[in-house]
Amino acid sequence: AVLRRMLSLHDFEDAARRRLPRPIFGYIAGAAEDNASLRDNRAAFGDFAFVTRVLRDVSQRSQSVELFGERYSSPFGIAPMGINALSTYRGDLVLARAARRMGIASVMSGTSLIPMEDVARDSPGTWFQAYLPGDQARIEALIERVERAGFRTLVVTVDIPISANRENNIRTGFSTPLRLSLRLAWDGLVRPRWVAGTFLRTLLRHGMPHFENSFATRGAPIVSSTVLRDFSARDHLSWRHIEAIRRRWKGPLVVKGLLSVEDALQAQHAGADGVVLSNHGGRQLDGAVSPMRVLEDVVAAVGPSYPVLVDGGFRRGSDVLKAIALGARLVLVGRPFNYAAAVAGEAGVLHAITLLRDEVDRNLAMLGATGCSELGPQHIARQRS
Ligand code: FNR
Repeated sequence: AVLRRMLSLHDFEDAARRRLPRPIFGYIAGAAEDNASLRDNRAAFGDFAFVTRVLRDVSQRSQSVELFGERYSSPFGIAPMGINALSTYRGDLVLARAARRMGIASVMSGTSLIPMEDVARDSPGTWFQAYLPGDQARIEALIERVERAGFRTLVVTVDIPISANRENNIRTGFSTPLRLSLRLAWDGLVRPRWVAGTFLRTLLRHGMPHFENSFATRGAPIVSSTVLRDFSARDHLSWRHIEAIRRRWKGPLVVKGLLSVEDALQAQHAGADGVVLSNHGGRQLDGAVSPMRVLEDVVAAVGPSYPVLVDGGFRRGSDVLKAIALGARLVLVGRPFNYAAAVAGEAGVLHAITLLRDEVDRNLAMLGATGCSELGPQHIARQRS
């Protein structure tokens, strides 16, 4: 019933705010410092406007795209997000399943609380996102585990050399390790559905959640500090590590979290099969440029046949199609799918995907195109918003 009131991806945010304890909602919604990048990720779309074409017989339309030898039913997929299993019961399985049912791409996070093997088995075709541990031996052990689990596409996220300043997490009481505080207990009391449906259900069936995938070995419970130590030992990583992974990983390899033309060329040179332009949803360097603002230059540099993916602030079919017109191959969407899972589990995510898909379909028609490959920079005018 609640889904009937979810008319756009925006609507899931308020609904999720009402359902999730404040620290957890804040962790998902929040960004770094002053939220400048978070806001600009949305504002950037205003600088691009559509130039439509008319009377072009758009009765036969398809929004499907091909990437890394797979066909996806829509030009958007689900971005990797850590700790999804605190949003809804077994959250990573929920998101991957919904994506698979709808035929869209989905990336599971390396900082998830569900073992990667469970997701790979349950939803083959899911991509795996890795944060690299700090030393070569553990990187190799991790890659081996990802391969053995059966993943084909590996995304390596490179925009966390160190943890960002996420003051909002401190303000709302979210931390890793998670502190089981009075505030969380109070928040739970007033949100019994989350406590019973997500938290207690998880605790009773699986025990205290663990970070299952971040690093080579099955890791620490979310209430221990091991993961933090791991995160702080990665600031020396370099392109040499990507080159080493390239030699080792046979499937498609994607580098996520870059913004500069030079880095995109560097990734291409290192043998990556594609890149994700991203400022991590505004969660790392506050003030980092919005991927939409660098997209065209990056595409021009790496060439039209090199897959450039993009994420950050995509909420509408029109946002997605602006990126596609500027040369992106696929768009990733983060927070809204997390909220959708929190609001109504798999049904919520299916509904969110359907809403965005319908928007893309309508907008394609109004643009005068029957498929994504017909879109190009000629469909975009730059404007000052
Ligand atoms: C993220 N993001 C992220 N990225 C990644 O590579 N690994 C991760 O584990 C996470 N974790 C994560 C958790 C949460 C709660 C959020 C909101 C985001 C970043 C994510 O993949 C993506 O880049 C942004 O979320 C895209 O922006 P939007 O769509 O959320 O605005």
